[in-house]
Amino acid sequence: MDWDESQYSLGLEEMDATHREFLALVRELQTADHDTFMFLFQKLVEHTKLHFVEEGRLMRLYKFPALGEHEGEHHRVYGDLLQFNRNVKNGRLALARAYVKEGLTDWFKLHIGSMDSALAAHILRCQESEFEIEGLVQIGT
Ligand SMILES: [Fe+2]
Ligand SMILES: [Fe+2]
Repeated sequence: MDWDESQYSLGLEEMDATHREFLALVRELQTADHDTFMFLFQKLVEHTKLHFVEEGRLMRLYKFPALGEHEGEHHRVYGDLLQFNRNVKNGRLALARAYVKEGLTDWFKLHIGSMDSALAAHILRCQESEFEIEGLVQIGT
């Protein structure tokens, strides 16, 4: 699963950059040998944590109405990753390998097309109206 700008870009560089990195990591994991997989899976867990923390920050900053639902989904997926990571740390990779190949990539496609795109659209709308307000203030002075 490669980054497809037309399919996955949300028009907000800070989110797009994180998603690009996420997909690059997932792609590397799909063909990684045993030791590399163990190393990269830790990276994926850390990267996903930062990814979700950052989206949580944006949701609060821009008062995103579906914050609870979106964060609930993040917590669920992060919990799954931690669960798989327990096996990976013990050298048992089969379940995590299957997850990286199917479950996680399917989830990502769904999540980016629904919750993340709704968040990005909300932020872009907020930024546009902030820009309009600034413009009006400038006209008024
Ligand atoms: Fe995201
Ligand atoms: Fe998200």
